Parts: sequence; C-alpha cells; structure tokens
Amino acid sequence: MTRYAMITGASSGLGLALAEALARRGRNLILVARQRETLEPVAIELTQRFGVEVLFRACDLSQPLRLSGFVLELEEGERRIDLLVNCAGQRTYGPFLAHEWAYEQDLLEVNILALSRLCHAIGNLMAVQGGGQILNVAGLAGVAPGPWMAAYAASKAYVLSFSEALREELGRTGIKVSVLCPGPVRSSRRRIPRLDASSPSPEEIALYTVRALDKNRALIIPGRRNRWLALAPRLLPRWLVRKLAGVIHRRYCPLGME
Ligand SMILES: NC(=O)c1ccc[n+]([C@@H]2O[C@H](COP(=O)([O-])OP(=O)(O)OC[C@H]3O[C@@H](n4cnc5c(N)ncnc54)[C@H](OP(=O)(O)O)[C@@H]3O)[C@@H](O)[C@H]2O)c1
Repeated sequence: MTRYAMITGASSGLGLALAEALARRGRNLILVARQRETLEPVAIELTQRFGVEVLFRACDLSQPLRLSGFVLELEEGERRIDLLVNCAGQRTYGPFLAHEWAYEQDLLEVNILALSRLCHAIGNLMAVQGGGQILNVAGLAGVAPGPWMAAYAASKAYVLSFSEALREELGRTGIKVSVLCPGPVRSSRRRIPRLDASSPSPEEIALYTVRALDKNRALIIPGRRNRWLALAPRLLPRWLVRKLAGVIHRRYCPLGME
C-alpha cells in the first residue's frame, strides 16, 4: 500500500517548506490547507520536480463539521499515512480584548482542537498499522506566557505539552511524536521587516527538522539562541518572564496587526 506524509498548512511558509523537504526525499504527500487554488499548483509543482505522488485536500480546520468530514474520509479511506505533520496555525497580535471573538475562536479551533483531533484519528490508524510518526508544530512562543499574543502563545504551550505527553504514551505503540519549536521564521504572510531580517527561512527550518525527525528528536528547537531562550523561563522568576515576554512582543508585533 502506498504510504503518505500528510501535512496541514502545506500551502505556504513552514508547511510548504516541510512538504518540499519531504518530497525531495521521495515521500508521497497529502497536502491540506483552506484554499484549493493555492494547494493545487503546489501539488503539481512538487509532483513535477520530485516525481512523487502529491494529493491535496482543501479543508478549513477551524470548522469542526468540515474537519469531521475530513477525518471520516481518512478513517474510511485506503491511504496509509505514516507521517502526520500538524503545521497549520493561526496567530493573533495585539490586545486580546480588541480582537473579534470569532478570530480568537478560529485560532483555538485550528491550533488546539484540529491538531488534537488529527493526532487522535491518525494516531489510531497508525497504531493499527504498527507505527508511524507525528510532528506537531508549536513555537518558541509556547514556552512562556505571551502578552499581546495571549491565546496564540497559550495554544502553542498546549501543543508543546500535549506532544511531549503523547510521545510518552505512544512510545510502545511504535508511534514517534516530536514537537517543533521554531523561533521567528521569515514568513510570506506576516511581514515584520525588523523580525524577518534576522530570522531563518522556512527552508532552513524544514531541512533542520527533517534531519531531527530522522533522529527521532522529542523537542526540535532550531538555532542555539532559541535553545537558550527556551531555557530562560525555567531559570527566571515567573513575574520577570511575563514582563520580558510582554516587552518583546510589543516591540516586534505592532498592535493592530493582523
Ligand atoms: N512564522 C513564524 O515566525 C513561526 C514561528 C513559530 C511557529 N510558527 C508556526 O509554524 C506554523 C506555520 O507558520 P507559517 O508562518 O509558516 O504559516 P503561514 O505562512 O501563515 O501559513 C499557514 C498555513 O496554514 C494554513 N491554514 C491557516 N489556517 C487554516 C485553517 N483554518 N484550516 C486549514 N489550513 C489553514 C494556510 O493555508 P490557507 O490560508 O489556504 O488555509 C497555510 O498553508 C504555524 O503553526 C505557526 O504557528 C511560525
């Protein structure tokens, strides 16, 4: 049976770079994002460049009913997924109270619920198949409270904790779980020049990540500076961590963006 790596958020940024890095290694892919019109050209290009089979499925992961339909398709389908990459994510910048609730809710649906649901559904399929690998994309924002991006940082803290816990639970089933915690990545959508200039490209992060997956690393933090930053909240008093995180986020994430 043909095996696939399924990547959510595969139409841009880090998800796209991970899809390309995996296709380069000869992996067949299932790409997921909301917009069919961005997924289709990506699938065609990766097929042509790397000679692998690339399927795509448009699904808005913030919509529980659509997600349920997609999960049912995966459960009833014949395709064997041996690598799940949960990369789709939404983010907010700015004061929590000023955001439309619908936007915050979508963020929580995608970053927390859809990610967990896919781990549950595909994890069960992998358990029946005798193993597989799951990569969840968190972010450095998840290591500390994130004033001015409160729900986003909290959602990434969930991804971090959930993934590490799953790794322990699923080890005996042959399912390897890793979590990726990148610092800021150059993004086609976010555009914060000051931040983008000093950040690695999605391709650099993707290459680092696929190598770390080969080694079955639990926690993947690209960049030495980021590994130090991830340690800081454990070494500093909590009040100071909150204050510093607030200062950093205000500086780099101008209020009112997105
Ligand atoms: N960029 C950074 O600096 C950074 C740093 C740390 C962690 N991360 C994490 O890395 C991941 C990718 O970030 P990125 O900046 O590379 O992303 P991006 O360029 O903004 O792309 C997001 C991807 O997710 C898809 N997506 C968004 N909402 C979706 C939804 N409701 N349903 C299905 N697909 C959805 C988008 O496609 P459609 O719009 O077509 O749906 C797109 O393919 C995210 O989880 C993010 O939190 C990013």
